[in-house]
Amino acid sequence: MTLQRKNGKIKITTQGNFFKGMFKMSTELAVSKTGLEEALDNVSDSDINELESVIRNFASKMQIYRAGIKEIRTKLEILDDKFQTKYAYNPIHSIESRLKYPQSILKKVKSKALPVTMESVAANITDVAGIRVICNYIDDIYRVADLLTSQSDVTLVRVRDYIKNPKPSGYKSLHLIVEIPIFLSTGAYPIPVEIQIRTIAMDFWASLEHKLKYKTENDVSPDLRKRLKICADEIFKLDCEMQDIHTTIQKRNGAEPAQPCSTPKA
Ligand code: GTP
Ligand code: MG
Repeated sequence: MTLQRKNGKIKITTQGNFFKGMFKMSTELAVSKTGLEEALDNVSDSDINELESVIRNFASKMQIYRAGIKEIRTKLEILDDKFQTKYAYNPIHSIESRLKYPQSILKKVKSKALPVTMESVAANITDVAGIRVICNYIDDIYRVADLLTSQSDVTLVRVRDYIKNPKPSGYKSLHLIVEIPIFLSTGAYPIPVEIQIRTIAMDFWASLEHKLKYKTENDVSPDLRKRLKICADEIFKLDCEMQDIHTTIQKRNGAEPAQPCSTPKA
């Protein structure tokens, strides 16, 4: 991404929406930092330089969050492999990850009435780096959470167990916020990563419900909300039944029983 002055106007060259969002975010950060009130077209060369440096700073912070995702992802993949050798099956079905878009970071900062600065993002927004772990069975969720959070370099910051305490919508998932150190030439930086762990069935519901809500701009009628909640309850029954079948088969095959599991405590 580059900023250039051309015919009295600032030309911004960006690639894709992420960089556009990053530019918007950085502009706001620069505005709050330097007190620039003029339209971009009127900013001085020194302000453009300042803006460019804010953008670079922001991009480098996002790189650290990306590193946080990579670290946790690798740990999860190693755990899954280990599990395969010990219990002869993989608890993890798939892993998805995403870096929060700058537009979404900005929206969240504003909705919480926080100052638009990188410091405030770092201190208050814990889901810039997000990982979703889709497990096969309910027990696997707690096992994966437990094995990950018991690692010495992973600090458990927050636990929200929406499986034991589902959201009123019917949403079920185990949410963890962990901190992982990222080592740079200037030292170690603890980076928060939000991890959502759920079964394939819970994910199926959450993904469709999210799309339905999005399509209706969150204005879902009470009747439809009730029907979605019933679907969530039915899906949970299936999850419990599949868990039971799996446990029975594992026992019959004489596999070493996996450790009992409980919600991790922060
Ligand atoms: P946010 O500010 O939204 O991140 O809230 P929070 O920090 O209190 O986190 P929370 O534990 O409520 O989890 C938020 C995330 O969980 C959302 O970004 C969704 O991915 C997911 N989520 C929470 N509730 C629902 C729901 O009712 N339906 C679906 N589909 N997803 C949900
Ligand atoms: Mg979130």
